[in-house]
Amino acid sequence: PVIKTLTGKRIMITAGPTYEAIDPVRFIGNYSSGKMGFAIAEELAKRGAHVDLVCGPVQIKIEHPGVYRHDVVTAQQMHDKCVELFPNTDAAIMAAAVSDYTPANVSDNKIKRSSDHFNISLKPNPDIAKRMGEMKKTGQILAGFALETDNEIANACEKLKKKHLDFIVLNSLAKAGAGFMTDTNQITIISKENKQTDFPLKSKREVAFDIVNYLETMMV
Ligand code: C5P
Repeated sequence: PVIKTLTGKRIMITAGPTYEAIDPVRFIGNYSSGKMGFAIAEELAKRGAHVDLVCGPVQIKIEHPGVYRHDVVTAQQMHDKCVELFPNTDAAIMAAAVSDYTPANVSDNKIKRSSDHFNISLKPNPDIAKRMGEMKKTGQILAGFALETDNEIANACEKLKKKHLDFIVLNSLAKAGAGFMTDTNQITIISKENKQTDFPLKSKREVAFDIVNYLETMMV
C-alpha cells in the first residue's frame, strides 16, 4: 500500500506544450507530450496531495480523483492560471514546454499562399517559472526542468538561479531514450546549492517517483 505522505499538501504542476495561434487554423507548438508532467501529477496524488495540473493541449488523460486539471492553450493563459493558483500551494513543479514566443499579430482570416517570402513577427511570452520565482513566499518550493543540447550542467545551473528555483531537473537529450516523445527519461537533479544527483535511464513513471521522493524530502 502507498503511504499517504503528502496528505494536506497542495502542489501545482504545469505540463505539455502551449499553442500560439498564427491564424484561425495554424499555430506554433512543440513536440511535448505531457507524459512526464502527468506522471508526476499522478505520483503526487497517489501520496495524498491535492494536485492542480495546468496543462496545454495534450492527447493524454488522467483519472486520479486527487488531480484537478486546468486546460489551457497559450502561454499567456498558462501564466494567468499559474498566477491564480500558486499563492495557495506548498510547491510547484514547472514541467511544461512553454513557447518562448508568440506571433505579434494574429490574422483574423486564414493566411493565403503567395509566391513571396513570408515572415511572422514574434514577441516574447512571459517566463512563467521566473514569475513564480518572484512570487514565491518562505516555505514554498519551486522546481523546474531544463532540456539542453550543450553545456547541460552550466545552463541548468544558470536557469536555477535566474528563476529562483529550489531544484532543477535536467533531461538529457544526449542519451537515447531520454527527452520529448519517449516513454523513458534520464535525469540529473541539481539543488540550489549546486549538488548534483544522477539517475539511470528509467520509465517516466519511475522518474516521476524519484522526483517526488526528492521533493518530499524538502517538504517535511
Ligand atoms: O528557460 P527555459 O525555457 O529553458 O526553462 C525551462 C523551465 O522554465 C521549465 O521548468 C519550464 O517549464 C519553465 N518555463 C516557463 N515559462 C516559459 C519558459 C519556460 O515556465 N515561458
